[in-house]
Amino acid sequence: MITKIQEEFKKRYGDGALLYASPGRVNLIGEHTDYNLGFVLPGAIDKSIYLAIKPNDGTLSRLYSVDYDATVNVDMNGEQPQEQWASYIYGVVQEMKKRGATVPAFDCVFGGDVPLGAGLSSSAALECVTGFAINEVYNLGLNRKDLAIIGQMTEHNYIGVKCGIMDQFASLFGEKGKVIRLDCRSMEYVLEPFNPVGYKVVLIDSMVKHTLASSEYNVRRAQCEVGVSIIGKHAEGIESLRDVSMDMLNTYRAEMDEMVYRRCRYVIEENQRLIDGCQALKDGDYALFGSKMFGSHDGLSKDYEVSCKELDFIATIGRKTDGVLGARMMGGGFGGCVINVVNDATYDSYIDEVKSRYTTEFQVTPRIIDVVIGDGARRLE
Ligand code: GLA
Repeated sequence: MITKIQEEFKKRYGDGALLYASPGRVNLIGEHTDYNLGFVLPGAIDKSIYLAIKPNDGTLSRLYSVDYDATVNVDMNGEQPQEQWASYIYGVVQEMKKRGATVPAFDCVFGGDVPLGAGLSSSAALECVTGFAINEVYNLGLNRKDLAIIGQMTEHNYIGVKCGIMDQFASLFGEKGKVIRLDCRSMEYVLEPFNPVGYKVVLIDSMVKHTLASSEYNVRRAQCEVGVSIIGKHAEGIESLRDVSMDMLNTYRAEMDEMVYRRCRYVIEENQRLIDGCQALKDGDYALFGSKMFGSHDGLSKDYEVSCKELDFIATIGRKTDGVLGARMMGGGFGGCVINVVNDATYDSYIDEVKSRYTTEFQVTPRIIDVVIGDGARRLE
């Protein structure tokens, strides 16, 4: 893919491009907690979006997507382009301009090996590689945290998804062999070594594209905000579900819709599962960590209702298989992957069983993706 991008750039726009990469992510536990200002535990993966870029002295930026085999020429001082893929790049430039940056026109070619629509945050990877590259090429002096927020705001303002900060943060701050324990309220983070000896972390992609994700995502976010506002009427300083305990939620349960109650319960419990899970990882207790993953899946499926029958099917096989320590849907939901922690000895038979049963049930073969934790955004030589 990298060679292809370089060749395409040369062919279309000539020599002298700089090349950048920014990866997709996995998340071990802590789902739908980021925009509720809780904790997440993502890591960058070894699959990225790659982007070649060079200033062009013109007024139009010329963008070419290798994956879509399509070109769009954009006036970054004009209207948002119709193509969503071009809107990510346009949005990043607009967000940079809002922060006082001058971004002259450029040529760019991009593509990647992050599977699209699989819940591995290929869109965050595109936002982050764009932001990281433009920041370097034009010496804008933005730091990685700024770039993460620029990516997040691109989703909010140009794509229409009111996402949290997890995906962009992981894409920019990831490090090989480490997961990031991020507190989404303070934005403080710790990089923890993640090398489970004797276990494999594997993704099973349901191949269901998460099309419902953006509209339902915003609905979940709004439901959590309703819960916060109800509790905030009774207690001081309640700004997010991070400030709400299970006791408080139960005290005011009668005032809220049952659905809002369940959404809030899931988030509060998920934060606790993450805290307990991190301790389990520190203690090397992968069985306990895995049980938190199953708990996370149950909450996402029953209380938060962002799973689907295909993801539930895979997680259920995981739960019934000795040697599978944990399995849960990952990311926004409504499709995409199940992330599994599996004993080395069980790995082959588990994968075979899931593949064969899933194919029989849904007439689709799931894709197996071994997780390798890689580096965050960077320039490639
Ligand atoms: C998507 C969003 C993230 C996060 C996850 C769910 O990936 O982009 O901000 O909310 O869903 O944990």
